[in-house]
Formats: sequence, C-alpha cells, structure tokens
Amino acid sequence: LNYLTPKSRLEVLDLLVTGLKRLEYRGYDSTGVAIDSPDSKNIVMVKRTGKVKVLEDAILEHFSGGEYSEPVMTHIGIAHTRWATHGVPCERNSHPHRSDEGNGFVVVHNGIITNYNDVKTFLAKRGYEFESDTDTEVFAKLVHHLWKTHPTYSFRELVEQAILQVEGAFAIAVKSKHFPGECVASRRSSPLLVAIKTKTRLATDHIPILYGKDDKKLTSDQVLPRSDSTSEFMPLEEKEVEYFFASDASAVIEHTNRVIYLEDDDVAAVRDGTLSIHRLKKSLDDPHAREITTLKMEIQQIMKGNYDYFMQKEIFEQPDSVVNTMRGRVRFDGNAIVLGGIKDYIPEIKRCRRLMLIGCGTSYHSAVATRQLLEELTELPVMVELASDFLDRNTPIFRDDVCFFISQSGETADTLMALRYCKQRGALIVGITNTVGSSICRESHCGVHINAGPEIGVASTKAYTSQFISLVMFALVMSEDRLSLQQRRLEILQALSNLADQIREVLKLDSKVQELAKDLYQHKSLLIMGRGYNFATCLEGALKVKELTYMHSEGIMAGELKHGPLALVDDSMPVLMIVLRDPVYVKCMNALQQVTSRKGCPVIICEEGDEETKAFSSRHLEIPRTVDCLQGILTVIPMQLLSYHIAVLRGCDVDCPRNLAKSVTVE
Ligand code: G6P
Repeated sequence: LNYLTPKSRLEVLDLLVTGLKRLEYRGYDSTGVAIDSPDSKNIVMVKRTGKVKVLEDAILEHFSGGEYSEPVMTHIGIAHTRWATHGVPCERNSHPHRSDEGNGFVVVHNGIITNYNDVKTFLAKRGYEFESDTDTEVFAKLVHHLWKTHPTYSFRELVEQAILQVEGAFAIAVKSKHFPGECVASRRSSPLLVAIKTKTRLATDHIPILYGKDDKKLTSDQVLPRSDSTSEFMPLEEKEVEYFFASDASAVIEHTNRVIYLEDDDVAAVRDGTLSIHRLKKSLDDPHAREITTLKMEIQQIMKGNYDYFMQKEIFEQPDSVVNTMRGRVRFDGNAIVLGGIKDYIPEIKRCRRLMLIGCGTSYHSAVATRQLLEELTELPVMVELASDFLDRNTPIFRDDVCFFISQSGETADTLMALRYCKQRGALIVGITNTVGSSICRESHCGVHINAGPEIGVASTKAYTSQFISLVMFALVMSEDRLSLQQRRLEILQALSNLADQIREVLKLDSKVQELAKDLYQHKSLLIMGRGYNFATCLEGALKVKELTYMHSEGIMAGELKHGPLALVDDSMPVLMIVLRDPVYVKCMNALQQVTSRKGCPVIICEEGDEETKAFSSRHLEIPRTVDCLQGILTVIPMQLLSYHIAVLRGCDVDCPRNLAKSVTVE
C-alpha cells in the first residue's frame, strides 16, 4: 500500500511482479495478481499458468490503457506464485481466489486448509458455487458469507472470524472492493511478515498489539459476537508509509529492511495508511507489541550477478560462505570456538541423554554427514531423523534429550512440527537455520545461524556445506575440555582453516565435471557409492541428480553393495564411487573391485595423486586431502557441479526443478 509518494497502478503492478520474481523459488506453477480498477470500484485480476514472466507479459497486455498510469495516493494489490497442493496448476486454480463473480473479496494463500471440505459443504448449502479445485477458494467465500451475515463488521473482524473457522496452515492476504484502501493478512504455521517503508527512520521499534476476546466456532448461521477492542488502529507516528505483506523478506528487501515477523493467529490490517496488529485472545505471557527488526540482507545477495543460474552462483560462493559460517566463531590462533547462540546452554547439553538431529532433504543429509564426528567428540548417542518419519513413529522423547532442528529456510513444515512435538515433551530445542527470524529460529531455545547468505536455487548447495560446518563447530565446542581429544580437535581446526582454499581447488574441476556430464547426461540412472564419512555425499549427490535432472539416482552405502545393489551393475550402468585415503579406504577398494569385476566402469572421486586408486578407472576426479571428517565438504562439490551440468545438458530449469519448491511449508 502506497502512502509515501503517489504511484500509478502500473507502478504498483511492477512492484508486485518484481516481488513475485524474488519469491519464485517458493513456487512457480502458476501466478496471479489483483489490483483496483481505475475507478477504484472494482478489482481486476490477471492469472496465468507458468512462471512469473508469463504473468508479466499478460499484465503488459492487459493494463496498457492510460488510465492505469494515473498517479493515485492509496492503493493495494495482491499477487501470488503457486506451488500446487490442491488442484493441478492451471489458470482456474491459480491465486488470487475470489468470493463471487463481482470479485468482492480476493485472497492469496500459502499453506493448506485441512478442513476445507467441511467449510465447502457449509458454504455450498448456502448457495456458494466453487470454480476451482483449491482449498483456498473456501476462504474467500467464507469471508464473503460472514460479510453478508454480519454487515457491521470491519474488514479485519471478518478475516478474524474466518480464520477461527479454518484449520491447517496458512499465510493469507485479503483485499476487498467493499473495503477499498484496506488489506488484511494473517498467518498460522506458514511464514508472513509485514515490511515498513518510511521516508525518515521510524520513531518506534515496535507496533502495539491490540487484543479482542471472541473465539466462537461457526456451526450455523448464528450471529457471531464482535470483538470489543475499542481503538482498532494505532497509527505509527509517521504519516507517510508503505506497507508490504510478504512470505519472506526477499520480496521486499529492495524497498525496506524494516520488518515485523507475524506470529501465529496475528491479524494485521492496513487502513488509511495505518497498520494494526490484532489478536483475539491474550494469554499471560503474550507481549504487548511486535518488534520491528532491521534486516542485514542486501539486494545483491538475492541477484544472480554474472552467473546463469542461482544454483551455479551458490556453488561458487562456497569458499566465502563457509568462511562466513566460521566468522567470529573460530579463533584459529587460540584454537577456541565460541557459538554465541548456544554457549549458555552447553553445560545443559553436556548433561543430556542423547542428541537428536532432525531435518528434511539436504538438511537431513548434513546430519548424516556429521553424525560420526558428533558421536566421537561428544561421546553421546546421536540419532539422525527425517522429520516426517520421526513424527509418523511418535518417537519417544525425554526431557533430557537435546534436539537439533536443521533447516535452511527455517520454515519446513515437517521440521517445524517435529520441533513442536519435542518442545512439548520438554526437550531442549536447538535450531540450525540460515534464515534469521524464521519460525524454527523463533521457536528454538537456542541455536546457530549458519550465515551462508540467502539461498535461492531450489536445490540446496551452500547451505549444506554451512550446516555441515556448524555441526562440526558444535562438536568442537562440546569437546573443548576433553584432554584426550585435543590432538583430534587441532587436526580438525587446522583443516577448517584450509577449507576455503581447498574448496577453490575443487571448483577448478568445473570444466572436467562438465565433460563428465556429457558422458552421463543421456543415461537413465546414476549410482553413487561410498561409505563412512562420505556416505552422506552419496545421498546428497543422488538427491541433487534427482531434483535437478529428473534422472534416477541412488546413493548406495558401499558396505551394502554385496547385499543387493551389485545386481544393478553391468558394463552400461553409470557408477560413481568415492574412494579416499581414510579409515574405510580398504573397504572402499573392495567395493571398487566388486564393481570393476562385474565390468562396471566407475568414475572415481579420489585424493590428489592417488595413483593406485586411479589405476582402477580411466575417469576420475581428484580432490585435495583433508581430515577425514571434513572430506564430505570437498566430495559433495563435484556432485553439485555434476548435477548442475547434467541438468543444463538435459535442458532442465536448474533453479526451478519441476514439481519442487524451496521452502515447503505444508506437511
Ligand atoms: C525442500 C527443498 C529441499 C530442502 C528441503 C528442506 O524439499 O526442495 O532442497 O533440502 O525442503 O528444506 P529446509 O529449508 O528445511 O532446509
């Protein structure tokens, strides 16, 4: 909403489309936008299947009339890019969704309304007809129904009553032609922030929360009681202000770095250029205000620069991102490590019964990669868990467990649900995230920001290596006072200090990996084998190949080869094997021989100058030697590059793989 300087609707559309482009990594099946008509009496919507670029072209065509270039003082637009959960990606199912043919209320929504069938039945009985297959549409129609039955309600109250009726996860923004110049937004379990842009620095660093008291469930057409808050809007001191609602900061960072992260069931409303945040219920420990946070993110961080793809940029950023993860934490001269976000909890962690590491996808693999070192340096039992499976099993959790939740976005619904499950059972919650202000960050007792910088490519790369290093640093902190482990710690610290240079060396393999990709890209499958510290690289490498290239790929524990996967090996099956000079070298060589004696012709990732291993194949990638427990950082980079090059050769969209989204905020 613009109150700062007059803008034309075309300018607002441009702002919305740019915001969507920055958010495209969250979903890119279909897109849509809604904005006031030139006379402000109606809402105009444009929706398209496909990526934001398609919408942009359609907008240019649709809004080319001069009346859209007239400057206006106050106006609101909403826009959305979708990752389909309910209903196939098509124009009909894309957001915004509307309440009626007259576009009375229009809604954009992230998440899943789980009781949408009940709400739909309720509304269908009252004559509503549905035009999409989505869960979202029920919300627009529910607000409309409430407006019809409760004509004296304010816009904010209507949305507030509607969210009481829906279950599941949502971040929503609602606009209405019946309430021009207003916008209402709310969240539950899906992220949502309000960004504030003012001409001068804000005189306040918080927005007071207004509380009301009604939480009746809608069962029939009974009249809902109104909330009793007296003053609905608490204006900021500044009169001239622009507000943005967005699911993450990258959509707005080029306009402002001042944001408020909304909490579950906050209802934020903007009217006449003022913002209010309202909650129906106040419990004892609820705060009086929501703080305005100043973000350190820079717009350059979310631009591609000279690279073709975000993923490529992020792979090549790793010499810097790993240093940023260690910056201010590791003192190589004094061999000291301080993790400010957990240091006060270290005594408690040392007394725990076990460590649990929980995550999804790549984040889970960072736990697999560091488990062995954590066991070695903490001398505690360490369990690694996929969040979804952990919840399915109702895993027993105790008060003296310490549970780590690893998540680049800090918003993955499965991980967040697992966090809440463990928190309820009294465990200590440690968040390992890349996103300051994310839900996992805020709901953890303590944690480590991995500081890898924004990651936009859907397939995670630099976040993985930074998660890996964060967990290694944690293991080093835990073993600080163990005399018997000092030699080992020194060896690791030494290796950490060389890591950035060694990553630079590995990145020089790029053209060699590209050649290798040319050999492999037409195959149907790729097996990746290794064991010990490198098993995680096999899993992560196979995930990268699947995500980006749509080829089948499997990470195989080399020790299990003879128990089944060997049957897949013949002279035509592409195999990649990681064979490094570490404690499992001899065992890896056994696996290598098992493969070559079945006429397999593997690509070998080995240590620089290891002629004996290289002799087993004509195709190899040599990486610098480092301490065993950090090898996984150097071996994963050729896998990232390989999947990237295969994807390019197969004509796949590297940053937006089909059917996937970066931040999966639904279970
Ligand atoms: C999605 C992404 C994966 C990512 C996983 C966990 O599935 O496509 O690349 O590894 O979520 O995400 P998180 O943000 O929790 O690390």
